[in-house]
Amino acid sequence: MAWRVLADADAVALAAARLMIQAAAEAIEQRGRFRLVLAGGRTPEAAYRLLAHQVSDWARWECYFGDERCLPADHAERNSQMAERALLSRVPLAPGQVHPIAAERGAEEAAAAYARIIRAAAPFDLVLLGVGEDGHTASLFPGRPLDPEAWVIPVHDAPKPPPDRVSLGLRGLQSSRQLLVLATGAGKREALRGWRAGAALPIAQVCRDRRVTLLLDEAADPGAGPAVS
Ligand code: 6PG
Repeated sequence: MAWRVLADADAVALAAARLMIQAAAEAIEQRGRFRLVLAGGRTPEAAYRLLAHQVSDWARWECYFGDERCLPADHAERNSQMAERALLSRVPLAPGQVHPIAAERGAEEAAAAYARIIRAAAPFDLVLLGVGEDGHTASLFPGRPLDPEAWVIPVHDAPKPPPDRVSLGLRGLQSSRQLLVLATGAGKREALRGWRAGAALPIAQVCRDRRVTLLLDEAADPGAGPAVS
């Protein structure tokens, strides 16, 4: 597991975009395509904006989603809509290359449908992940047992709104050649400290025994002293 501390959120976004481009080049050279799982959140969004200007071989990319919020399909707060605005609408990707989660159909139905898509697509080349202040990742929240065999799960009563969500489960997120985790801001410091100390947080469980790169900024670095509340 590689922890790379960078100066600030802009540097994290730039390094993340570079790592994605490098992973894409390797995957396309070896297998002719790049299968990427996108994350929600502010840090991934900044990386998507950079990617839109730096990639040329879009025809080889396939984009999936690590989680989605159960909101109408065109709702601005959907992870798919964020990715649309930051990246997908700006580049020449055909509709068949982008695989959104149909979370507008409700968590149960959408999870069952997306599990079929994910099982057929796995293993991925790269799964991108954010980290919540409580150590959640995708929509896997602390204090809930994680089924190691779950590809995609319905989520209810999420502590981060909206309460209903769909998330790749442990098996879905771990079925990847590599994981890239992004964490910026002082609010993430306690979660990263817990992860480093071996706490059973969802981000730690997903990343255990996997090939992981964590890009964090100085503000999120648990080596930088007590967290700012
Ligand atoms: C969501 C996400 C969630 C997110 C983290 C980090 O639906 O919000 O999928 O897991 O990635 O909460 O988000 P930030 O980068 O905005 O802190």
